[in-house]
Amino acid sequence: MKAAIAIATLTLIFAGLVGYHSLLTNYSQEIDMHADDAIIDNSTNANVHEVATQHLHLNLTLEFDRKVAYGTATHTMKALVDNLNHIDLDARYLNIGQVKSQEGKNLKFHYEEPNPNIGPKLVIEVSNKIKKDDIFNITIEYETTDKTLSLNWLDPEQTAGNTLPYVFTHCEAIDCRTLAPLQDTPSVKSTYSALIRSPRDIKVYMSAVNLGDRVEGNSRVTEFSLDVPIPSYLIALVAGDLEYKKLGRNTGVITEPVFMKACVDELSELQDSLDVAESFLTEYEWGMYTIVVLPPSFPFGGMENPLLTFASPTIIVGDKSQVNVASHEIAHSWTGNLVTNRNWENFWLNEGFTMWSERAIIRKQRGEEFYRVASALGNSSLYDDLNLYGYDSTFTSLHPNYAGANPYDTFSDVPYEKGFLFLTYIETLMGTENFEVFLRFYLEKYRRQSIVYSQFIDTFLEFLDDNFSEQERNKIVTKIDFHTWIFGTGPPPVQLNFSTPNLEISRELADAYLLGNGTPKNYDVFFGYFSLLKCIFLQRLVDRAEDATIPILEQIDKDYTLTTTIDPEQKYLWLQLCIMAGYDKAIPFADEFLGQVGRQKYLLPLYRALKDYDINLAIQIFNKHKLGYHPVAVVNVGRILGV
Ligand code: BES
Ligand code: ZN
Repeated sequence: MKAAIAIATLTLIFAGLVGYHSLLTNYSQEIDMHADDAIIDNSTNANVHEVATQHLHLNLTLEFDRKVAYGTATHTMKALVDNLNHIDLDARYLNIGQVKSQEGKNLKFHYEEPNPNIGPKLVIEVSNKIKKDDIFNITIEYETTDKTLSLNWLDPEQTAGNTLPYVFTHCEAIDCRTLAPLQDTPSVKSTYSALIRSPRDIKVYMSAVNLGDRVEGNSRVTEFSLDVPIPSYLIALVAGDLEYKKLGRNTGVITEPVFMKACVDELSELQDSLDVAESFLTEYEWGMYTIVVLPPSFPFGGMENPLLTFASPTIIVGDKSQVNVASHEIAHSWTGNLVTNRNWENFWLNEGFTMWSERAIIRKQRGEEFYRVASALGNSSLYDDLNLYGYDSTFTSLHPNYAGANPYDTFSDVPYEKGFLFLTYIETLMGTENFEVFLRFYLEKYRRQSIVYSQFIDTFLEFLDDNFSEQERNKIVTKIDFHTWIFGTGPPPVQLNFSTPNLEISRELADAYLLGNGTPKNYDVFFGYFSLLKCIFLQRLVDRAEDATIPILEQIDKDYTLTTTIDPEQKYLWLQLCIMAGYDKAIPFADEFLGQVGRQKYLLPLYRALKDYDINLAIQIFNKHKLGYHPVAVVNVGRILGV
C-alpha cells in the first residue's frame, strides 16, 4: 500500500516536471522510475527468490606451490519457498568435488551455462521436502584453478620484501564466484566465518574479526568471523609476510615489514579521518578499521573490504597527497558496506554516495579550496569518460542498461562523479546540514540492506515530507529532475561550479604554455600548489593535447621536471599527455612506470594513448610487464590493445 502511494506520488511529481520526457533522447524514455524494483540482479545465476545464504563458512588451505586454494564452503541457507528442490549457485573457474547435505548425503549437481559474461550456474539438487523458512546446511568441496580472477598469487620477487610468496583476493564486482561457490550477488547478505591454513611463516588476514592463529606443524591456522551480514563481493583475504601496526584508537595498518614505516607516516591521519566520518554519519558498526597496503599489482587505488580496506602502494607518495583514497574507503563503511546496491545497475548508490562522503571528510579536514579542487578535477574526469563513451551511450547514465554484460564493462567515473554531482546538487538545494540529517536517516533506514535507486528517492521524499513545510518541500522537489539525473545519458541536467581563484590560475597557466611563447611569467606559482592543483594544470594540458607541441612539452618539463616526478597522479597525466603529443623522449619513462604500477587508473589511459602512438610498441610493453599485473588488469589492458 505504501509503495503504491509512493508510486502515485512520484508519477504526479514527474508529470509535473517541465516536460522532462522530451529532453531525453534515447532508450531511457521508456523506463518507468520504478520499473526495475522487481529485478533482483541480472549478474547472478543464483535462485535468490527461492533460497538465501544466511551464513557462509570457508575452510580453506592456501597452497602456494600450486597457486590454489582448496577446501570446503558450507552454506547455512534459508528456504524462501515450499518444496525447494534445487539450489543454483555462481561457481566459475572452480573444480567442484563432492556436495553434501547436512546429514552427510552426497547431493547431485550439474552445470548450466546461461550467459558467458557471468559464468555458469551450478545446480545442486536437494530433497523437495524442504519447506519455506526451513534452515539447512550444504557443504561443497572445491579447489580454485589457474583461471581464477579473484586471486592474485605473487612470487617473492613480486613483493617488497622478496622473501615469501603472497596472495590477495579481489572480488568486486562478480569475481567472488571464482573464489568459492556461492550466491554471488549484492542482493544477498550473509555473515561469514573462515578457517584458513597457510604455511607457518605466512600471516593471513580477512575482512572479518581475527579470532587468532596457531601453528600446527608446518602450517598456521587462522580463524575469522564476521557477524555483520555482507554481500559476497566484500569477502577478502590477504596472506604473506605481513605485520600489523596500530595507528589510533580503532585504526591500524598492515603491510610487509620493509614498507611499514613509510605507511605509518603516510597514514598518520587515518584515525582522524574515521572520527570525522563518524561525526557526520552514523555510528561506525564494524569495530576496527585497518588498511592493508598491498604490492603494486593491486589493480585499484583502494577496495573497501570491511574492517580491512585494501590499498595500492601508489597511495604512499610521501606527502599524504593520496590519503583521500583512505577517506573514500572509510566512507564505504556506511555507503556500500551497510547500505548496498542491490545490483550493479545501481552501482552509483555505492560510489556516488561514497564520493559525496569522501569529499565531505576532506572538506572538514582540509577546507573549502581542497574540496572544490578535488570536485573540479572529478568533474573533468567525468567529461573525459562521457567523451570516451559518447553522450548517447547508456554507460553515461547513472542507471546503465547493460543487459547481462559483465559489470566490469560498465565501470567508469560516471557512477562516481555524476552520482556525486546529483547528491551535491540536492545538498545545494536543502543546505549541507539538512543533507547530512537526511543522509543519517537514509543510513539508519537501510543499514544492512541492499537497495535500488527508487528506495533512495522514496526515502528522500519521505524525509522532505516529515521535515519541511509543503511549500519548502515543493520548492526543492520541483528543481530536481530525478528521471534525467538517473536515466539520462551524457552530461548531468544541472552544471555545478567548483572553481576557485587558484584553480583558474592553474588552468590559465596551462593555456599560457600552450600559446608556445615559452615560460609564462608567473610559472613559479606551480611550486606552491598541492598535488590536486598541479593535476588541474596537467588535466588541462591533456584536455588540449592537440595544441601541445614538442617544444612546449620540453619547456614544461624543463620548468617542472614532470617526467621524473614521484607523484603518480601527476606522472600518469604527464606521461599520457606526452604520448598523445608524440613526445618520444617520454616513452622509456612510460615504459618504466608501466612496469612499476599495476593500478588500472594509470595503466588504462597510458595503454590507450600508447595504442594510438604505436600499437606494436604498446603490445611489446604490455607483454614485458603483464606477468606483474593482476589477472583483471591483464584482461582489461588486453581488451584495449585487442590481444
Ligand atoms: N569499490 C571501489 C573499487 C572497485 C569498484 C573495484 C568496482 C572493482 C569494481 C573502490 O571503493 C574505489 O572506488 N576505489 C577508487 C578510489 C578513489 C575513487 C578514491 C580507486 O580504486 O581508484
Ligand atoms: Zn569506491
